[in-house]
Formats: sequence, structure tokens, C-alpha cells
Amino acid sequence: MEIPVKKNEKYIVDIIDYGSEGEGIAKIDSYTIFVVGALKGEKCKIHITKVLTTHAFAKIVEIIKSSQYRVTSDCETYNRCGGCTLRHIEYNETLKIKQEKVQNLVNKMLDNKIIVEPTVGMEVPIHYRNKAIYPISKEKNVGIFAQRSHDIIPINECLIQTKESQEIAKFIVQNWSDTIYDEKTGKGLLRNIMIREGFNTNEIMCVLVQNGRKKYDAKALIQKFPRIKTIIINVNTKNTNVVLSNENIVIYGQGYIEDKLGEYIFKISPNSFYQVNPVQTEKIYNYAIEQAKLKKDDIVCDLYCGIGTIGIFASKYVDKVYGIEIVEEAVKNAKENAKINNINNAEFLTGDVEQAFEKLLERNIKPSVIFVDPPRKGLDEKTIANLCKLKLDRLIYISCNPATLMRDLQKLETIYNIESITPFDNFCYSSHVESCSVLSLKD
Ligand SMILES: C[S@@+](CC[C@H](N)C(=O)[O-])C[C@H]1O[C@@H](n2cnc3c(N)ncnc32)[C@H](O)[C@@H]1O
Repeated sequence: MEIPVKKNEKYIVDIIDYGSEGEGIAKIDSYTIFVVGALKGEKCKIHITKVLTTHAFAKIVEIIKSSQYRVTSDCETYNRCGGCTLRHIEYNETLKIKQEKVQNLVNKMLDNKIIVEPTVGMEVPIHYRNKAIYPISKEKNVGIFAQRSHDIIPINECLIQTKESQEIAKFIVQNWSDTIYDEKTGKGLLRNIMIREGFNTNEIMCVLVQNGRKKYDAKALIQKFPRIKTIIINVNTKNTNVVLSNENIVIYGQGYIEDKLGEYIFKISPNSFYQVNPVQTEKIYNYAIEQAKLKKDDIVCDLYCGIGTIGIFASKYVDKVYGIEIVEEAVKNAKENAKINNINNAEFLTGDVEQAFEKLLERNIKPSVIFVDPPRKGLDEKTIANLCKLKLDRLIYISCNPATLMRDLQKLETIYNIESITPFDNFCYSSHVESCSVLSLKD
């Protein structure tokens, strides 16, 4: 097929759909063009920025007909930042876009063309994140990463991080500016600042990612921000994209914070995973537990359990819970969390689910209900085979990546009936979407 567009040329197009990042899609002679910042239903004059054999990329030169859902972004750094990508769209419309994104994948990949439920959104989708990792630099102060790059854009106010976490990061940078690490020369100490908050306990953890072990005098910081419950130095001398190493030195407090979700208290250490949007997390956990229709004699597995949250939520309804998680520190948290919450029927194991789940089954344990909540890459083949073999009453799949979710559901639907798929807006105004799928054994 001859490519119908040329780089640097301008065209007038109708935007007919959304791509997976929330960009607009136009077609010329059935050739696809991704138009950054365009909304479905708009007519735009576009400038082609890149041409490939199967598709092209373009930016808007002029909006000839605007969508009723277009809004002016409320963020000063929106056009340059790589965080939110949907702030030019009315919030309720972003929820529909996410539902459609999941629906399109269902239609393309599953036998069961189930209708995806409407996305469960936030009432107040602002300052919703409880975790921030701020890149810092001497010249640019506290920043955020630019789109698809490691360039730092200084922030005035970020609308998804909390105000206090931004104030803390700025205070640290201003007061310790002469120690900031320089990526080019490899000189300096302070590389990143990670702030974690317990929204329901008011506790803050401050992690200073450093190129060495030198300890700061943090008195002024603690005095100014009394919500800080612990300060930890994370020693990371490697030049990779991984922000945190496994070496932590506690310089103030206990080295962890607590948060409350539902009726439970959770201890969270710096390297343990904890969902970033606790308001939505409570909704998705409650939904998952309700849909699991748990019974007193159920044996439940919580695979990829992090600090044990889902298993602990399930524990009071069932006979026994087993959790599996690869990060040792998170498993330690999970065990302590069971204790703090007086839960005696939960066992948490360290290991890669691929092997550790099989080992658990070799102990002749016969789960009836399983929750899986894997990282973005989804489930491995062995675990899918084991889930199919087990013929569970119910399987609940919580996912942060609809593409790998569909790949896995394709295999699981040979044995299980997909009863529902519900997106949850845990990452408001970004193109990411969390979802909870409910599966039951086919008759
Ligand atoms: C999306 S998080 C979910 C955690 C937990 N269910 C929650 O809601 O907080 C995925 C978890 O899987 C863990 N993980 C990643 N790969 C793993 C593997 N191969 N085996 C076991 N756990 C893994 C991560 O450390 C992380 O805690």
C-alpha cells in the first residue's frame, strides 16, 4: 500500500477514535495517523511529524471543529510533562475513554465479547497519589520527567501529587542544594526524593536516594513537617533506571509508615509495593471481595500479594489465606500486618509466583478462590496452566495493564467464564487503567 501522507506536510482530518495513550486517531485511505492531543469527533488541521509503514504521528496545527469534551488544562506544565496525558479532556469523558480502551481489547482478543462495565471514577480526582518520586537538579530544583525522556521539568504545582509532598521535596532541595548529585559528572550525593504518605493515618515517609551513606541533619525538616514519621537513606550508587536499591539506612523514626484501608492497618516499608491511590484501592478491594462470594470453608490464595492487603481483606470471610510475593520486605510487612490486625488464618510466603505457587500446590493445598494482582507484565504460562488445572470456583484478576490482562484472559477463558470486567480509575488523567475481572468455572 502506498503511504498516503508525507512528513512535514499538513492535512485536514476527522478524529474517529482514541489510541491506547488517549491520543486521537485519524485515517487517510485506511492508513492510521495518531494525533497527539486530539479528541474523537474533532476536525483538525494536522502536521505530520513521523511516518512509518503502518502508521504516522502528527500534531495539531488548528482545531477546525472542537469536541464538546475539550477543556483547557488546569496544569502549567501539562504540555511538557510525561505524567498526565488526558488533562485536556473533561474528567467523565476520560472515564469513557478508559472503558472503550478495555472494550476494544475485549472485542479484538476474547471469544466472549463481554460488555465492559463503566469505569469507576473518583469523586475528586485531584492530589490523589500517595507516592511521589521527584527527580531533582541544582538548576531546576524539584521536577518531573518530560515526556519520553529523562529531562527534568521544574514544577510549580503538580495536581496529582499532594501539596505537602511537593513542599517537602522543595524544602529538601533548597536546604541541601549543594549536595545534589550531577548525572553528567557523577559528583554529589542526593539523587532523588521519594515521599510516601498514609492518607488515612497522616503519616509521611521521606526517602533520600543517595550516591553514598552520608547522613543529613534532618532536624529542621522534621520540625517544619511534623507529619514526617520516618526518614530513610536509600543508598543507590548504580547508574540505571531503577530508583531504589535494597540498602536502606533509617535516620529518623522506625523505617516504615502505617496506613489504614477499610478496617485494617498496614505497615509499609520503602521497598514494598503499596497502591498509589488509596481512595480507589478501597473501592477495588471491596468490589473484588464482594464479587469473590467468599464462604467460610474457602481456601484463598492472594498471588502477588504485596504487603498482604487483599488477603487480609478476605481473611475474615474464609477458612485460610495464602499470600505469595517476591519482595522479601513486603512479605515481612504482610506477616506483621496480619499480626497487627489479629488475623490468624493467613500465611505469607516469599517467592516468584511461577515457582512458589506450584510449591504451595505440592503441599496438597486446594484453593477454591484465587485473587491475582500481577505487575504490568501479567501472569506467566506456568501459573496460567496451574490456574486452569485447579478448576476454581472463582478467580478474580486485578490488573494494571489491559493488554496483558486480555492475553491472559484469552487462555483462562478456555476453562473459566468471564463474568465481568470493571475498569477503575486509579491513575486519573493518565492513560493508565486498572481493572477487576471476575471469572467463574464454566459449567
Ligand atoms: C500490582 S502489585 C500488587 C500488590 C498487592 N496485591 C496490592 O494490591 O498492593 C504486584 C506485586 O507483585 C510483586 N511481584 C512482581 N513479580 C512477582 C513475581 N514474579 N512473583 C511474586 N510477586 C511478584 C510485586 O513486588 C508487587 O508487590
